[in-house]
Amino acid sequence: MNEHTLSRRLERVAALVPADARLADIGSDHAYLPVALMRRGLIAMAVAGEVATTPFSAAQRTVRENGFEAHIRVRLADGLAAIEADDGITAISLCGMGGETIRDIFEAGKARLNGRERLILQPNGGEPELRQWLMDNGYRIVHEDVLRENRFDYEIIVAEPSGPVVYSPEALYFGPLLMTERSPSFLDKWQRRLRNKQRSLAGLQRARQGVSEHTLHDIAQQVRWITELLG
Ligand SMILES: C[S@@+](CC[C@H](N)C(=O)[O-])C[C@H]1O[C@@H](n2cnc3c(N)ncnc32)[C@H](O)[C@@H]1O
Repeated sequence: MNEHTLSRRLERVAALVPADARLADIGSDHAYLPVALMRRGLIAMAVAGEVATTPFSAAQRTVRENGFEAHIRVRLADGLAAIEADDGITAISLCGMGGETIRDIFEAGKARLNGRERLILQPNGGEPELRQWLMDNGYRIVHEDVLRENRFDYEIIVAEPSGPVVYSPEALYFGPLLMTERSPSFLDKWQRRLRNKQRSLAGLQRARQGVSEHTLHDIAQQVRWITELLG
C-alpha cells in the first residue's frame, strides 16, 4: 500500500469522504489516505494527526514528497488535539484502531468537534462500543460497510450529527444498517463468527472454573443473537 494504491479497506473509506471535504485523518500513519485523496483532487485540505513520532515522520515525508505541504497539515498530537478551530474540518476519519480506542479518542476530544463533521470510522473490533458512543452523543449511522481483506473482516461506519437516536442492543452489536441489508459479506462474517463463538462457549462451559457467570451469559447471548440473525 502507498499513496497511489490504497488497500481495499482504505479505498472503501476514501469513497465515503465527501467531495471537497476538509478532512482530519486521525491516526494517519503514513498519511496515505489524505495524500491519495489530495492527489485525486477530491478534498480541499487535510490534517494528518499522529500520536507516535515514527508514523508522524512518515506522514511528513509522504506529504513533502507529494508537494502537499500547503494543503496537508501534519501534526504530532493525541487524538482530536490535532484539530484546530480554524481548520474548519468537515469530515474526520479514524481507521485501523480498536473501536474502544476510537470511542475514547472522541470522548476525550469532544470539545474539538464543531458538531458538523461526518465521521468515517473503520474500527478493528469493538464496533458495538463505538456505536454506543455514537448513539449516546446524537450521531446517526448513515452508512455501513463490511469487507474482507487478508483474512480479516473490516467494518466501516459513517455517522453524522443528528440529535437523539435510539438503536436496539442487537443493532449496536450487528450494525443497524448492516443487519437490515444482510449483504453476502455481512452474512459470511457472522457465519464465521458464529462458529468461533460456539467453540469458545463450549470451551468455557467445559472449563467452568474461573469463568464468571457474566462472561458465559454474555457469550451465550451473542450465540443466540447470531443464530437468530442467520435464521
Ligand atoms: C494501525 S495504524 C492505522 C493507520 C491508518 N489509519 C490505516 O487505517 O491504515 C494506527 C495508527 O494510529 C495511531 N494512533 C493510535 N492512537 C492514536 C491517538 N490517540 N492519536 C493519534 N494517533 C493515534 C498509531 O500511532 C498508528 O500509527
